[in-house]
Amino acid sequence: MLMKDLIAVVLAAGKGTRMQSKTPKVLHHLLREPLLFYPLQLLDDLGVGRRLVVVSDDEDGDLVSGSLAAFPEVEWPRQMFQKGTADAVAAALEHLDGARGELLILCGDVPLLRRETVARFYRAHKENGCGLSILTAVLEAGGAYGRVLVDEEGTPTAIVEARDASSAELDVRRINSGTYLVDLDLLRQALSATDCDNAQGEYYLTDMVAFARRHGVKVSCLDVDDPDEILGVNTRVDLVHLESLLARRIAGEWLNRGVTIRRPETVRIGPRVRIDQDVEIESGVSLFGEISLGRGTVVGVGSQLQDTWIGAGVEIKAYSVLEEAAVAAGAQIGPFARLRPGTEIGPDAKIGNFVETKKAVFGRGAKASHLAYIGDAEVGEESNLGAGTITCNYDGFSKFKTVIGKGVFIGSDSQLVAPVEIGDDALVGAGSTITRKVAENALVTSRGRQKELAGRGMAWRRDREKK
Ligand code: UD1
Ligand code: MG
Repeated sequence: MLMKDLIAVVLAAGKGTRMQSKTPKVLHHLLREPLLFYPLQLLDDLGVGRRLVVVSDDEDGDLVSGSLAAFPEVEWPRQMFQKGTADAVAAALEHLDGARGELLILCGDVPLLRRETVARFYRAHKENGCGLSILTAVLEAGGAYGRVLVDEEGTPTAIVEARDASSAELDVRRINSGTYLVDLDLLRQALSATDCDNAQGEYYLTDMVAFARRHGVKVSCLDVDDPDEILGVNTRVDLVHLESLLARRIAGEWLNRGVTIRRPETVRIGPRVRIDQDVEIESGVSLFGEISLGRGTVVGVGSQLQDTWIGAGVEIKAYSVLEEAAVAAGAQIGPFARLRPGTEIGPDAKIGNFVETKKAVFGRGAKASHLAYIGDAEVGEESNLGAGTITCNYDGFSKFKTVIGKGVFIGSDSQLVAPVEIGDDALVGAGSTITRKVAENALVTSRGRQKELAGRGMAWRRDREKK
């Protein structure tokens, strides 16, 4: 369902004191995305027309709006002092002068809410012709959440914050999720009537429920099926708990879409990852940021990928770390390989154990099978870099490039001192230090000539012992 005409406000100006952190709460990460990413993504998915995020009017506010530049059309109203949720919404209303219709209100610290749930909430709100709807959950114990009081017909009459509740009210198990749909005119009137006469001395948005009832406006609530969806992050314990819930949910979705995930409880897959069918993911893998995995690819035990594109039929063996890299179909990576930003591995190429690459482009079938550092380099098709090959790309001041042609063979333990070029089909003998351009099809060595003194082995040792 498209919600183009809806306006949404996300509340994200709270101090988040219980996180005990210098970082604003909504910038703490869940599967390597800031908490605030989740409500913003939800609004994107729902096609909500206009979105506002209320942030605090200080450096934290700058940091929050600056960190979510990936959502360019968001407006960022600022709340001067954190005087409560009603005051936060009032800050957003200053941007909404003259706007009519409905407002969807979400909390920036509630990341697990599903698109389907909000769509169902919106539909119910419209069908019932309500002025105010509250998304609620029925919990075993209400904890610190606001309790939703209802009359005999099940219609909400008020929300009482846990700290203001009587012991009878604390027994109420239906709680307020902090997500509402409300008519803008009603909201304006309700906010102008709120006071801060309560245990926290704050302006409570929740007071709009009693206000609406007093003024004969139709109010209803909708219980979510899965109470996990409305959990909020207030502490670091909440943060890691919600991260595991979300990781299990996402892994479960991929399992249902043709991806094998071994021991899914150990695997973390972020919300911007795309996976083709018949991909196999082994235990302890993490996939974060913008990732694409092609059909039939295998990601081995303990591997970590961030912002990486992987073609079809790629084998990433155990404990490999890939960041801002691209790997074409049929390539083999690892075990224990490290592909740093700007690495592009061609089809059927091979990067073996303890090989580190950075800004390196490998052509089709090129190989660096063991113990190498290849940085700021091009490696042509079918070239083979022996164990211990090192591109010396840095002189302590600047970076320089190494260009290796097609079909080149570099013997083990060679250093290529950049800037340097190796022509097609050239052959570099083991243990060479190459400082000058090597011509096409040349055979080059640069190492001390081997000298042999017959029978001198034991004699040399005796001489040493005498000293
Ligand atoms: C609020 C609700 C409570 C509900 C719970 C659900 C009120 C009074 N209470 O309580 O009924 O069960 O959410 O999670 O609304 N914020 C601001 N500016 C402020 C204060 C808060 O932007 O001045 C933001 C916070 O960043 C947060 C949201 O509003 O995203 C909720 O605030 P929080 O302090 O966490 O309210 P709760 O005590 O959790
Ligand atoms: Mg909260």
